[in-house]
Amino acid sequence: MTNEQLMTGTQKYLMANYGRLPVAIVSAAGATVRDAAGREYIDLFAGFGAAAMGHCHPAVVEAIRRQAGELMCVGNLFTWPSQVELAERIIRHSFGAGRVFFCHSGAEANEAALKLARRAAGKGRYKMISFTHGFHGRTMGGLSMTSQTKFHEGFEPMVPGCVYVPFNDAPAVERAIDKETAGIIFEPIQGEGGIHLPEASFLARLRELADRHKLTLICDEVWTAPARTGQWFGYQHYGITPDVITLGKALGGGVPVAACVAREGFDQVLTPGTHGCTLGGNPVCAAAGAAVMKLIESEGLVERANQLERRIREMIAAAKLPNVREVRGKGLMLGIEMAKPAKEAVAACLAKGVMINVTADTVVRLAPPLTIEQGQLEAALKIVLDVLKAMPA
Ligand SMILES: Cc1ncc(COP(=O)(O)O)c(C=O)c1O
Repeated sequence: MTNEQLMTGTQKYLMANYGRLPVAIVSAAGATVRDAAGREYIDLFAGFGAAAMGHCHPAVVEAIRRQAGELMCVGNLFTWPSQVELAERIIRHSFGAGRVFFCHSGAEANEAALKLARRAAGKGRYKMISFTHGFHGRTMGGLSMTSQTKFHEGFEPMVPGCVYVPFNDAPAVERAIDKETAGIIFEPIQGEGGIHLPEASFLARLRELADRHKLTLICDEVWTAPARTGQWFGYQHYGITPDVITLGKALGGGVPVAACVAREGFDQVLTPGTHGCTLGGNPVCAAAGAAVMKLIESEGLVERANQLERRIREMIAAAKLPNVREVRGKGLMLGIEMAKPAKEAVAACLAKGVMINVTADTVVRLAPPLTIEQGQLEAALKIVLDVLKAMPA
């Protein structure tokens, strides 16, 4: 089928909830993606960061193949090796001691965290504090904790008790806490809201306030982990430890596996019957996740994210673009804030064979696979910088 036929089929049979680009993708390997006409693109966005190992990484494909031939689904009344293996690696690289709940999407992981926070807080305490520019998913819980009200339109009322506070404003957080507050949720880098970073001192205050008021401090790592920001988990940049982290996107190397991870002390709040997910951590997705964690270890991808960040920043600085306001982010989660709305850069780059993304109107997002070849990254970035240079200042 051609790109046009596939777009026509998409318009006819799929709900129109996505603003799709007019290209149908049929195959991909590493950072190279092919469309139905056989045209190749270099992927600098990796499907919202999810294809962090590169597309169809052989080790991930092999883990899926092997597991699919052995066991695909038995249900969480039983257990199986791949989810134990994945959970052990997540805990080893995060809290050192704690437990994992598996599900399929970042929003579901945040739902689990919301329920955990309410249950940990006890009866009558149900409120969640979250931040301006934040994003926590599209389920009613995730949406309610998302402060950007444009996403709420048509879906109100939201889940009760969600309180929005300016990001990096610790006194405002303190004022927002009352007897009914159960938890605080933040992103270690705000992804969808435009690549905004917290100050370390702000997160230290959140930690203090959570301890003082016995709140669950949740770090939403759906965009930032594993390894994307140049640490295994984004919170590790800031010298604090949250009580819960939520993971999704890149964890499965391209297949859906997400997790709500609680440190010791919060990891026994969800008891039998209080929460569940039929296919959560299913053998195939968990095997893919375990393969991802092993690759990050064996290929040194945490350090690689830092090394490639340095190269990207060097190239952006050398290009001396007059219309760039700021470059924000860490590792391979970077945003170039443009002086003017920059949405048209997406189509312009696509036409030249490079995939990027623009969020919050003016922020060009780069989130290539962590495995991208440096030469390929440089070639693609040069195209992006030429496109940005040609835009109005
Ligand atoms: C920080 C954050 N949390 C949660 C989500 C929701 O993840 P999912 O789309 O897998 O439900 C997203 C999605 O972009 C996100 O960026």
